Amino acid sequence: MADVTVNLGERSYPIYISDSFRDFGNALTTISFSSRLLIVTDSNVDKLYADSLASFLEHLEYEVLKIVIPAGEKNKNLETVSRIYEFCRQNQIERKDTIIALGGGVVGDIAGFAAATYLRGINFIQVPTTIIAVCDSSVGGKTGVDFGGSKNIIGAFYQPKAVYINLDTLKTLSQVQYVSGFAEVVKHALIEKTVADLQEEFELAGLFEYLEENTEKILEKEIDCLSYIIKTNCLIKSKVVEFDEKEKGIRAILNFGHTIGHAIESSLEFRLTHGECVALGMIAACSIAVKLDFFTEQRKQRIIALLTVLGIPTNDSEIDIEKVQQEMKNDKKVSGGKLHFVLPKKIGEVIECNHVDEGMIRESIRELVGASL
Ligand SMILES: NC(=O)c1ccc[n+]([C@@H]2O[C@H](COP(=O)([O-])OP(=O)(O)OC[C@H]3O[C@@H](n4cnc5c(N)ncnc54)[C@H](O)[C@@H]3O)[C@@H](O)[C@H]2O)c1
Ligand SMILES: [Zn+2]
Repeated sequence: MADVTVNLGERSYPIYISDSFRDFGNALTTISFSSRLLIVTDSNVDKLYADSLASFLEHLEYEVLKIVIPAGEKNKNLETVSRIYEFCRQNQIERKDTIIALGGGVVGDIAGFAAATYLRGINFIQVPTTIIAVCDSSVGGKTGVDFGGSKNIIGAFYQPKAVYINLDTLKTLSQVQYVSGFAEVVKHALIEKTVADLQEEFELAGLFEYLEENTEKILEKEIDCLSYIIKTNCLIKSKVVEFDEKEKGIRAILNFGHTIGHAIESSLEFRLTHGECVALGMIAACSIAVKLDFFTEQRKQRIIALLTVLGIPTNDSEIDIEKVQQEMKNDKKVSGGKLHFVLPKKIGEVIECNHVDEGMIRESIRELVGASL
């Protein structure tokens, strides 16, 4: 049985959480049995998990193909997508075949976009292997690549047929990748009550408090704790997506921390991880909310304290305020000349706001640099 189901009518799909690839057959029941499977993975994950996944699939008597793309956000572009198309063409991939995205958010976003567009859409299954990917990017169907220096500016909404999480893969993540991924987890914790207000049957897990109380277990990668956190995150994300699949409105709350976070990420040319940038973006959003007087400094410090205990940096002296502001202007979320912000009201509650004074934004970014100007 699925651990979580994303309910989207005919595009509904299961999320399985396991500690091995043993039960992968469950994910494959969502697709046609005649399909060939194309594993898309990156150069790091390939060495670690591609062989073991492929041998499980071959054991189930599938024909398995594989393409390895270079690891890293800087390769999340149309050139990499083109290489996947070319591979598909050379190997006569058909519409009933299936792409399996094995890797972090970068692989999931690229492979998902290739699946969405090749032959106007072929099946795909997400097999996420980073904290960001298991808790966030593999769920919800946002696929795409960066373009012209702007993050995720080209893409498609395209839901996977299934998500299969093998918790064991998380053990090999570097410490930086592991802890910084929890920024997206903290993001979900900070929107949880707003999500609960959308859907009556959604039971509040009190994720923020749970994280505060379980930091040691998180840092020790304790399996039951991780499994609970991942399931809760998939639930929170899926409830938002079920309500607003194509981001016509409320789904935008998932961008909490991303308006400034994405701009920092691009301005530093991807020196920091996505999670680290989201954490900085969330702190800046908290600062704006404090200045606007609807969030307290005390709550902001509580969030900073949690991020700090988890080992996520909460400032960065190399942030160039001018560059960040320039990147924000390029951001696709600029609509009608206004930047779109998601701001906290309480722990777990956010509101949307698109008229924040430029000076206030600047001051909030400056606080991240730690400069006393
Ligand atoms: N589609 C969405 O809804 C959504 C949501 C959040 C983030 N994202 C995107 O996700 C990306 C960030 O994801 P990410 O942090 O997973 O990045 P990533 O895919 O680049 O993975 C980070 C690094 O970890 C390596 N890695 C992956 N799994 C590993 C494992 N199990 N063991 C050892 N190393 C491993 C990768 O090779 C890479 O070097 C960004 O591009 C962001 O825009 C998308
Ligand atoms: Zn993100």
